[in-house]
Amino acid sequence: MTHGELMAIAAEARKASYSPYSGFKVGAALLGKSGKVYTGCNVENAAYTPTNCAERTAIFKAVSEGEREFIAIAIVGGKGEETAEFCAPCGVCRQVLAEFCDGDFVVVLGNPERYEAFTLAKLLPFSFGKADLN
Ligand code: THU
Repeated sequence: MTHGELMAIAAEARKASYSPYSGFKVGAALLGKSGKVYTGCNVENAAYTPTNCAERTAIFKAVSEGEREFIAIAIVGGKGEETAEFCAPCGVCRQVLAEFCDGDFVVVLGNPERYEAFTLAKLLPFSFGKADLN
């Protein structure tokens, strides 16, 4: 699976975004070590704080289906039908990714036309994790 293919799946997943409050639609495609791809979109709520980001939707779907090891995630976001140049994952999503992914996990950001790959270590340096609880 190429980064471009994962991006295209994220863009498709974005179409299901439920975002009547912000109008900001996000899609994610998470590649598991099994080769399976889990998609996600943001799901907003009238009470605002229960909103779930696209990345967490994808990772919770995957973990709830038994997959816990991942290779990469692609994220596409933007207001309305417009796709932003870049939609970086929020801090909460970075922390949730760090629960299951090592520093070399790949985060592909951008849109299907132009994208760039980062490591989770670059996006979440000095993170707090399970090792800190030992
Ligand atoms: N959102 C995501 O789904 N992922 C991100 O990485 C950033 C923000 C969502 C949450 C909310 O529904 C909307 O985008 C605006 O913040």
